[in-house]
Amino acid sequence: MDRLMNKIAIITGGASGQGKAASLLFAKEGATVIVADFDAEKGKKAVDEIIAQNGNAEFHHVDVTRESLVESLVKSVVAKYGRLDIMYNNAGLVKMRPIGELPTDDWDFTIRFELQQVYYGCKYALQQMEKKGYGVILNTASTSGLVGIPGHGPHAATKAGVIGLTRSIAVDYGPKGIRCNAVAPGFIPYTQQTGDLSNDEFIRMMLQAQPLKRHGRPEDVAQCALFLCSDEASWITGQVIAVDGGYTAM
Ligand SMILES: NC(=O)c1ccc[n+]([C@@H]2O[C@H](COP(=O)([O-])OP(=O)(O)OC[C@H]3O[C@@H](n4cnc5c(N)ncnc54)[C@H](O)[C@@H]3O)[C@@H](O)[C@H]2O)c1
Repeated sequence: MDRLMNKIAIITGGASGQGKAASLLFAKEGATVIVADFDAEKGKKAVDEIIAQNGNAEFHHVDVTRESLVESLVKSVVAKYGRLDIMYNNAGLVKMRPIGELPTDDWDFTIRFELQQVYYGCKYALQQMEKKGYGVILNTASTSGLVGIPGHGPHAATKAGVIGLTRSIAVDYGPKGIRCNAVAPGFIPYTQQTGDLSNDEFIRMMLQAQPLKRHGRPEDVAQCALFLCSDEASWITGQVIAVDGGYTAM
């Protein structure tokens, strides 16, 4: 308990999946959580759940692919709370196909929804954190950014980009008291991104490939995110931690 006491945290994509799990956990650990998502219904529901558990949270309706909206999100949080301690750039949406079959519009979409917006989140958070000489940025990458996975072309490209961005920020901003890490989830079913378990063949293949032989849960990723965002990780920056049941160890 209290591992994030009095921290002010923005979690993008906090309305569902991993972002929601992190929002609930961060609030339980004492943070005030700003759930930033373009799904207002689910976002407000997540905030209601946090408040029902005596946590502090508010919902911000934002499409993080729109730069001006990300800028005002960060500025409004700083205007209200005086600072931003944690920026968790978790939102993401992807259109996946092998590259030769991928329409250029889908490539552009994936770059915008998975990489461009992470740059916006980092940029506006860094501007505020620099003023305080303190801050933690966590970006959601993927095992697709670390190893080749069939059919994951655009996702692989954007998430490898997120990893590069993360390391570069760690180097530039470490001397200014700001840490930046990435979490690289493996396959996490039951989220909006992956849908249900109806694609049996893929599910079986993923289970086979994971030494721990169980499906990943949003909460598994949230626990790693909590550690990386807490002061317990105060000497860790520029790292990518895979939360993948051992998939990338094979
Ligand atoms: N589920 C997996 O297997 C898996 C694996 C590796 C990485 N990831 C990454 O994890 C992150 C979280 O995904 P998830 O699995 O929890 O999926 P999810 O679809 O359940 O959650 C994503 C959330 O982000 C929100 N969102 C998406 N685009 C947005 C935008 N432009 N503006 C505001 N909100 C937006 C959605 O409304 C949703 O609430 C993503 O970055 C995804 O690429 C997922």
